[in-house]
Amino acid sequence: MLAVHLVSFFFSKLQEDPTKKVDRFLYAMRLHDDQLKDISARFQAEMKKGLSSEKKGQFLALDLGGSKFKVLQVKVREGMGIKRGGVEMEERTYPIPKELLIGKGTELFGHVSESLKDFLHQRNISLEKKHPLAFTFSFPCEQTALDQGFLLGWGKNYRPRGLQGKDVVQTLREAIDRTGGLDVEVLAMVNDTVATMMTCGFDDEYCEVGLIIGTGTNACYMEELRHIDLVEGDEGRMCVNTEWGGFGDDESLNDYITEFDRDVDAASNNPGKQIFEKMISGMYLGELVRLVVLKMAKLGLLFDGRVSDALRTKGKITTAHVAAMEEYKNGLKNTKDILTELDLNPSSDDCIAVQHVSTIVSFRSSNLAAAGLAAILSRIKQNRNLRTLRITVGVDGTVYKTHPQYPKRLHKVVRRLLPECHVRFVLSDSGSSKGAALVSAVAQRLASQRRQVDETLAPFRLSQEQLQLVKTRMRAGLEAGLKSKGPSTIKMLPSFVYRTPDGTEKGKYLALDLGGTNFRALLVNFKKGLQHNVRLYHKIYTIPQEIMQGTGEELFDHIAQCVSDFLDYMGMKNAHLPAGFTFSFPCEQTAIDTGTLVSWTKGYKATDCEGHDVVSLLREAIKRRNEFDLDIVAVVNDTVGTMMSCAYEDPQCEIGLIAGTGTNVCYMEELKNIEKTEQKFGKTEEGEKEEHMDEGTEGEKKEGDAEIPKMCINTEWGGLGDDGSLDDIITPYDVEVNQNSLNPGKQRFEKLTSGMYLGEVVRQVLLDLTRGGLLFRGHVTETLKTPGIFQTKYLSQIESDRLALLQVRSILQQLGLNSTCDDSIIVKEVCGAVSRRAAQLCGAGMAAVVEKIRENRGLVHLNITVGVDGALYKLHPHFAGVLQETARILAPQCNVTFLPSEEGSGKGAALITAVARQKHD
Ligand code: BG6
Ligand code: BG6
Ligand code: GLC
Ligand code: GLC
Repeated sequence: MLAVHLVSFFFSKLQEDPTKKVDRFLYAMRLHDDQLKDISARFQAEMKKGLSSEKKGQFLALDLGGSKFKVLQVKVREGMGIKRGGVEMEERTYPIPKELLIGKGTELFGHVSESLKDFLHQRNISLEKKHPLAFTFSFPCEQTALDQGFLLGWGKNYRPRGLQGKDVVQTLREAIDRTGGLDVEVLAMVNDTVATMMTCGFDDEYCEVGLIIGTGTNACYMEELRHIDLVEGDEGRMCVNTEWGGFGDDESLNDYITEFDRDVDAASNNPGKQIFEKMISGMYLGELVRLVVLKMAKLGLLFDGRVSDALRTKGKITTAHVAAMEEYKNGLKNTKDILTELDLNPSSDDCIAVQHVSTIVSFRSSNLAAAGLAAILSRIKQNRNLRTLRITVGVDGTVYKTHPQYPKRLHKVVRRLLPECHVRFVLSDSGSSKGAALVSAVAQRLASQRRQVDETLAPFRLSQEQLQLVKTRMRAGLEAGLKSKGPSTIKMLPSFVYRTPDGTEKGKYLALDLGGTNFRALLVNFKKGLQHNVRLYHKIYTIPQEIMQGTGEELFDHIAQCVSDFLDYMGMKNAHLPAGFTFSFPCEQTAIDTGTLVSWTKGYKATDCEGHDVVSLLREAIKRRNEFDLDIVAVVNDTVGTMMSCAYEDPQCEIGLIAGTGTNVCYMEELKNIEKTEQKFGKTEEGEKEEHMDEGTEGEKKEGDAEIPKMCINTEWGGLGDDGSLDDIITPYDVEVNQNSLNPGKQRFEKLTSGMYLGEVVRQVLLDLTRGGLLFRGHVTETLKTPGIFQTKYLSQIESDRLALLQVRSILQQLGLNSTCDDSIIVKEVCGAVSRRAAQLCGAGMAAVVEKIRENRGLVHLNITVGVDGALYKLHPHFAGVLQETARILAPQCNVTFLPSEEGSGKGAALITAVARQKHD
């Protein structure tokens, strides 16, 4: 038997179409359309990235504050990128006249921009074209952005007036404008340490420290964002310019300071400032040597006590002299020449001694720099919780570059101080401009990304005029719906609820609440007819999606089953209670206890319900179950239930608003305006209407407006726009969401404003940004392609002001989206734009409703309360505020109070049942 099976198996294998096994084998190579779309999107993203790549372009650069002022052009050759050596640089040094160093700051910047213009002219660089420019500015600045930095103070040999506290970038821009004829965009300003770190970082990814030992001295390093109070953000790193030259300005180094340091400081441009710098950097080393030599000579320890005028003159010994004196072979000879130049007549012992002075001074310098560097490296190591640290320090500056012993000494001491760190030192071969150009390129890319994100979100940002138009259209829709006897976009469905509660309602009622996020069954007990003495018991049931979208019979059987469970839970199976049914879908009502479902909305699509009376459907299901009995007295929309529930607390409440899974509003309309009901009531005879009212829920009329008969109208405002009237504000993302919905073309307003759709709109925007390479590194994941991932609760969490970016990131992570810090910022922004628009649109709609009520009543000023429910309103951090603000602006003659419903619409349904029941009793 087994053999037969095997044979037939082999036989069937032999018979098989040979392409099939190939298909199976190469399954992964066969791509279906979705995959192709994805690949195409990724490719597009790559192309976009390639075009806006930071690795290509031409930048102008200014380098001000070192020993030379330079103008440069940095070209990054296409296709090669900086890393592969595709950088070409042309530079020119422009001397700065001495008087400008101590003149007016604006004049110094005038010289800078004139030099720039000259450079462009000399190199035949077009003056008309817009040139991006990077600015290396080597003085302490408080930076608030890459292109903004406020000067804290000058230093070194600079002392111009009038710029302290000013934004240096702005000053440069103004100078460029004054010069005229230059179209330059200053993209970024960087300190020379930062630019040096970036320059060296091209070739060495471990380069996270920048060090300058030149005219001045300073260091920068990559600090964890969480440690930088001045910057928003909690993850990642940012380069911090330490301005370590100012170490000791608070006298903390006083015990290390010699009389020579004090003299150098006293004679400097900035006494009391940059104490550490004055012990280390090139601007002061020669001077320190001179002062020591002078003092020794005066004490008779050198030159037989003879002193020359030259030796007495400030600046006569320079750093270059110091370097020359310490040269390996020629050092002594150089020393002799230098001293002879100073009109001294040194003996060979004098030369040895002076050389030694020089060595001690420069040694101290490198030792102090090493100590500073060791502090920085230890911090980085601690920050990262590492036992050993591998790191590279990018270095620049004339002292480091020209002093023969300096680098070796510095390296040695750093390594001695930090034996557990592997420190590499890289000399910046081409100055700081390459790095500055990179920073600018990144700034340029960020600016272009920002522009693209802004452009994407622009259609969501509605102007006051647009909101005004929405209000006008909503108003027209309300009016048309009241008049229309046939279908209208805003249905304006009569509810057969003629008044809000008066507090006399009493008894026990069952309430069923279907159509929001969950199904709820409630028992409501109004005790002794006393207001605020209500007992409420409830149980929440979820309705599975397959039930929402299965057959009508299944849906109503499921509801009957939940009710049965609830009655068991309450021990009331045999109570035969009067019940109110909150059914949150559009129903055409002819009485309080009948409602024909016009069409499903939101996530429901059960068959054989549309066009049927939902009360009968429920009664039939209860009958089929044959287990308990219910007396269904009223069917109400959730807006109506909510209004009633809130009106029980506040008699001014005559509007009900839902901003949840769906969105809708009901309000008390005057009967005379409800022209569509004339059909049912016959001619517009007030008396006849009154008569009908008595059959409904009319109790005792309230004082004041007793003479104006009203009925609550369920507007079904979610349908605004179904005739195309909102097409001018609808974005391609909304179009997509509409097309993917259960009811394409329907409920267009609802799809712009309610919880069920906002997350989807956000997802569509994120998909687009990702395809454009602006998010998630351009990677469209399966998660992002999954409908429904952004529920209202997540949007609410993401937009919470209390959340730090790291937490936003962790929410996205929970959703399966791996994001960077920048991604989180963009996602938050998208959520904000989408939810703000939703709140504004609801506010505009609300303004239309309250204005209508005000005009109905012929009032100059209307005070009214809106009862509100729905997760979007209640959970979202900004929705309620924006909605209220918009309504306030667009309906300035109305004072609208928003009262969140506390127990949902069930209490309201019970109140309506109570009134209807009392009528019948
Ligand atoms: C240059 C950099 O190489 O070094 C400048 O391009 C920097 O940005 C300078 O300020 C520091 O050295 P020095 O010795 O010129 O002050
Ligand atoms: C509930 C009401 O509190 O809010 C329901 O009882 C209503 O009747 C619902 O439908 C609306 O909010 P959501 O967010 O559940 O759709
Ligand atoms: C001075 C400046 C500093 C600069 C350093 C090296 O210390 O204050 O910004 O980095 O010189 O040029
Ligand atoms: C949908 C329904 C409407 C309901 C609203 C809020 O718009 O059509 O009847 O009031 O959602 O739940």
